Amino acid sequence: MAEFKQAPAGASAAQQVMTWVDNRFPATKLFKEHMSEYYAPKSFNFWYIFGSLSLLVLVIQIVTGIFLTMHYKPDAALAFTSVEYIMRDVPWGWLIRYMHSTGASAFFIVVYLHMWRGLIYGSYQKPRELIWVFGCAIFLCLMAEAFMGYLLPWGQMSFWGAQVIINLFAAIPFIGPDLSLLIRGDYVVGDATLNRFFAFHVIAVPLVLLGLVVAHIIALHEVGSNNPDGVEIKAKKDPKTGIPLDGIPFHPYYSVHDIFGVSVFLMIFSAIIFFAPEMGGYFLEYNNFIPADALKTPAHIAPVWYFTPYYSMLRAVTDPFVNVLAVLVGAAGVLAFLFGGLKGVWKWLPLVAAAVVAVLLKTFDAKFWGVVVMGVAVIVLFPLPWLDRSPVKSIRYRPGWNKWLYGIFIINFLVLGYLGIKPPSDMGTLVSQVGTLFYFGFFLLMPWWSRIGTFKPVPERVVFHAH
Ligand code: HEM
Repeated sequence: MAEFKQAPAGASAAQQVMTWVDNRFPATKLFKEHMSEYYAPKSFNFWYIFGSLSLLVLVIQIVTGIFLTMHYKPDAALAFTSVEYIMRDVPWGWLIRYMHSTGASAFFIVVYLHMWRGLIYGSYQKPRELIWVFGCAIFLCLMAEAFMGYLLPWGQMSFWGAQVIINLFAAIPFIGPDLSLLIRGDYVVGDATLNRFFAFHVIAVPLVLLGLVVAHIIALHEVGSNNPDGVEIKAKKDPKTGIPLDGIPFHPYYSVHDIFGVSVFLMIFSAIIFFAPEMGGYFLEYNNFIPADALKTPAHIAPVWYFTPYYSMLRAVTDPFVNVLAVLVGAAGVLAFLFGGLKGVWKWLPLVAAAVVAVLLKTFDAKFWGVVVMGVAVIVLFPLPWLDRSPVKSIRYRPGWNKWLYGIFIINFLVLGYLGIKPPSDMGTLVSQVGTLFYFGFFLLMPWWSRIGTFKPVPERVVFHAH
């Protein structure tokens, strides 16, 4: 047992209580390690607020979710009316429900901006690979959480959205039909589906999500934050104190700074909740105010906005597009065979692999490959730390044309999102096919393009202009 410390003579009652606690639980030690003696780069900018905001929205979702669960009925015969009851009869129920539904969209907005920050400042590069990998797992969980939550109000979009997406799993060869049956718990989306989605939405996924967020922050505090210059502040420490010269204590500097960001966020968040909670049908779709009806398919079924870039990629995969993919895979195999630098029998490996993939592409139907493309579009984010071979982290010191490339990447992602909301059209399909190829090209060709061009010298210390 560790030695018990004594409160200093004349200590206040609060100090005495803290000493008592610290002798049994490392409260002060933890506060120092993670707040008052956690040194963050002094040059954080606007983009660094979204991690804290993600934490805030996570808390909002959990707290409002608990209150919703007190009145919600996970039963296909009662779910829709129980939500209407919350909206009309439960005191403040409308506020709690709108906070939760707006919170879902807000979560994706802040998380997308948070990921974008990671991308432009190369925050996933060594030594922050695991922070990124945990982040990607969080993103996957968030998608599952949002998808299952959307079924719960049991409106037309809840029902038909789930129907469409779960049916996609049936396209997987061999196991597909059984897998979709397992997910639904029935031959059609029904009470069993609602019950299991409820269980996953209120406890299973949030538990995993919380665990991953804790792992994300622990990994962050182990290596320390990156910054807009991509300079490792731990490389230049004060010889006497051992404190990074460009670091400032998280508390009080960034805790106060974050309160400002949180206040601005809450103003926007409240404005949406009070004045536009449906956000023109983007946050709450109009069809979802109609109870689920298995006999009436809505004219146009579209997922909520945050899924639409991926939904576009799914719809982009038509039979002719699979042919294009087969040609591209073949060409990649030939290029790797000729210039890959592999020796002996290994030289043939890319050619054989490309041939196998091309045959598989033609064996299974386009619907299945659409599902694969949609899934891989998220999975491809995981290996980013190893795909990027750039010698510098931040976009500030990468070749100038990289800014254009990243700009086109984001515009492309927004266009894919827009097309995913719209009903399919020939032109839309063509644009989303080009967009899908660009999206994958950006990541898969990164080991090549991230190395080329003229890099600017990275300064030794962070660039900081007081504001
Ligand atoms: C519930 C969702 C999430 C929460 C609560 C969260 C929380 C945080 C917090 C508080 C920070 C430190 C503050 C900051 O740098 O902004 C951070 C940093 C970071 N997060 Fe997240 N995060 C989430 C999701 C993600 C996702 C989805 C990714 C990427 C796929 C990601 C990647 C990163 C990276 C790379 C850093 C280090 C950034 C740097 O040091 O420059 N996070 N996160």
